[in-house]
Amino acid sequence: MGAEFGNPSSSHSGGAAARGYLRAARSDVARLLGCAPESLSFTSGATEANNTVIAGGTLVRGDRLRIVSSAVEHSSILRALEWAGSQGAEVVLLPVNRHGVIDLSALRDVVAGAPSLVSIQWVNSETGVMQPISEIGRLCADRAVPFHTDAAQAVGKLPLRLGEEPIDYASVSAHKFHGPQGVGVLYMRPGRRVRPLLHGGAQEAGRRAGTENVPGVAGMGVAAALRADGLSEAICALAALRDRFEAAVRASIRDVTVNGGGSPRVCNTSNLLLHGVDGQALVARLDQAGIQCSQTSACVSHRPEPSYVLTSMGLDETAAYSSVRFSFSTANTAHEVDHAVNVLAATVAQLRAQGRRLAPNRIMAEVP
Ligand SMILES: Cc1ncc(COP(=O)(O)O)c(C=O)c1O
Repeated sequence: MGAEFGNPSSSHSGGAAARGYLRAARSDVARLLGCAPESLSFTSGATEANNTVIAGGTLVRGDRLRIVSSAVEHSSILRALEWAGSQGAEVVLLPVNRHGVIDLSALRDVVAGAPSLVSIQWVNSETGVMQPISEIGRLCADRAVPFHTDAAQAVGKLPLRLGEEPIDYASVSAHKFHGPQGVGVLYMRPGRRVRPLLHGGAQEAGRRAGTENVPGVAGMGVAAALRADGLSEAICALAALRDRFEAAVRASIRDVTVNGGGSPRVCNTSNLLLHGVDGQALVARLDQAGIQCSQTSACVSHRPEPSYVLTSMGLDETAAYSSVRFSFSTANTAHEVDHAVNVLAATVAQLRAQGRRLAPNRIMAEVP
């Protein structure tokens, strides 16, 4: 972009140049999402988009708010719902089954009560488990209930046609498809409204005040175009890496379960329950060996608490503490996967042997 500091809202040529970057990015992101460019507003990421819909999308309906969501949503939905609850909204969190999927008949029952909003994630960040989003959207559309999905983990990993789905709002983060961190979009079906979260200028068709993050948006556009051009190749490559990883893990490590393995999952995530292993110690040791994985969502992983996603699926605390999430990128290779499994198998064997010698409270104390 060079030294271009034009404000996209300015009428001079510098502003026009900045607007050009926004226009190109809006069209490239729309191509990846399968929707009209005008239905997208740039945000600082999925957190802001989620908060905008929970705090602003629902307020336009007036009356006492009733918001339906699920127990396994990202913290940016759950904390926003807590806030909405503190403002008088009634919040209903649907449980998930042991495979991580919500019960459609339970959803049908609550949707019959005409809630103000239903917000259900497309893909879970910890397990990769997909919710039946089209069916959920149809259930909501049949009752004219606005439906929002947190699509942060779906974009770039599934072929999406948002414009053809019964979805009113969707949240997206650029860094999930190799764009820059700190930028994303809120998709809004034509005709839907939100009350802006930020008060100020009329940027983004009045849906999001404040000068757009032009360099971030431009980077997101390039990443979206690259992913849209190579989407099926990316999905095949990621699925091949993930399947190779899980097959090798099963062949070389005993007592291992893939959390959510009985459900439809996106192509890049593998959440392993390694019985008898302290997950935090495993994450630390693998990191030292150059293999980066996580115990829970990156946004809460500084907290040594068991994953609420996994306990919501019925795992007890010990099993949740013994679970670790691996995510694969298009930049990974089969060789790296094989190396990761070798190191993982050796580390798991060491930790299990050590666990047999130590009392459980000493095992949990081995935290970096
Ligand atoms: C499902 C989901 N929703 C929302 C977010 C928040 O995205 P951001 O931190 O980019 O706002 C994330 C990020 O990890 C996520 O995985």
